[in-house]
Amino acid sequence: MAKRKPERAPAGSVAHYEDGRYYDQAYRRRRHDVRFYVDLALRSGGPVLELGAGTGRVALAIAKAGVDVVGVEPMKPMLERAESRLARLPRGTRERVELRHGDIERLRLRRRFPLVIAPFNVWMHLYSREQIERGFATVRHHLLQDGRFAFDVLLPDPTSMARDPSRRYRGGEVPHPRGGVKYRYSEYFSYDPMTQIETTMMDFEHPTRKSESFCTPLTQRQFFPAELEALLHYNGFAVESHAGDFVGEPITSATESQVVVARLRPTREAARRSST
Ligand SMILES: C[S@@+](CC[C@H](N)C(=O)[O-])C[C@H]1O[C@@H](n2cnc3c(N)ncnc32)[C@H](O)[C@@H]1O
Repeated sequence: MAKRKPERAPAGSVAHYEDGRYYDQAYRRRRHDVRFYVDLALRSGGPVLELGAGTGRVALAIAKAGVDVVGVEPMKPMLERAESRLARLPRGTRERVELRHGDIERLRLRRRFPLVIAPFNVWMHLYSREQIERGFATVRHHLLQDGRFAFDVLLPDPTSMARDPSRRYRGGEVPHPRGGVKYRYSEYFSYDPMTQIETTMMDFEHPTRKSESFCTPLTQRQFFPAELEALLHYNGFAVESHAGDFVGEPITSATESQVVVARLRPTREAARRSST
């Protein structure tokens, strides 16, 4: 039987990131993770490399806390939004931030960092094993030997994975950032158990004009906790902590985000050097 290959899922990996203003409005209440990443950044002393920096939600908070940060983001609308937010900050903060256009799978800077982060489900946009391995290779390339790699991904939710893909789940009303019209929001979910990819169709219905209604797909690779630890292990990392939230609570069936801090597994050469 032919093996089903995970698709690169172009629409579902980009559509949600076509409008930086909308992104910032949609996630304006998400603050609980920022403190966690800022604390890690302060403890590392910086500079920090953020992979998938989006609109700068975390990178700018790190800079405001006094730590240098390089933010890498492939989506131009997100990067432009980050640049315009950065431009409004005081000069001292601005000078701590470097924003770059780039992709986790290919990034090669000639620098190493004590902390590499990928906050808020960035890793869920790496769909195939090959993509995930390229992502880990990028982290290894940029991490100092005693540095840390921190990221979070959702805990797979069996209820959501078992949902009928044809069923509409109604949400509330959401204002569009341009014009302030309130759209009726609803979602459809479909999950492919072979590729572990879940697609959420986010449906925005205009209150009066059907032609202005739109639907945004969001495609996310699900990572089961033991699988995630195995992937980290076989890609050269040791898990330092794997928690069920940003304050270190354990993973339970009620967990939303898995929060991982990993280190490089010492190579034989590094182990030999440290024992002599
Ligand atoms: C949910 S957002 C998180 C953004 C930011 N880290 C934050 O915490 O707000 C996921 C981000 O990952 C980015 N992304 C997706 N695939 C990527 C890739 N291959 N390389 C780098 N970033 C990627 C998206 O463009 C998007 O900005």
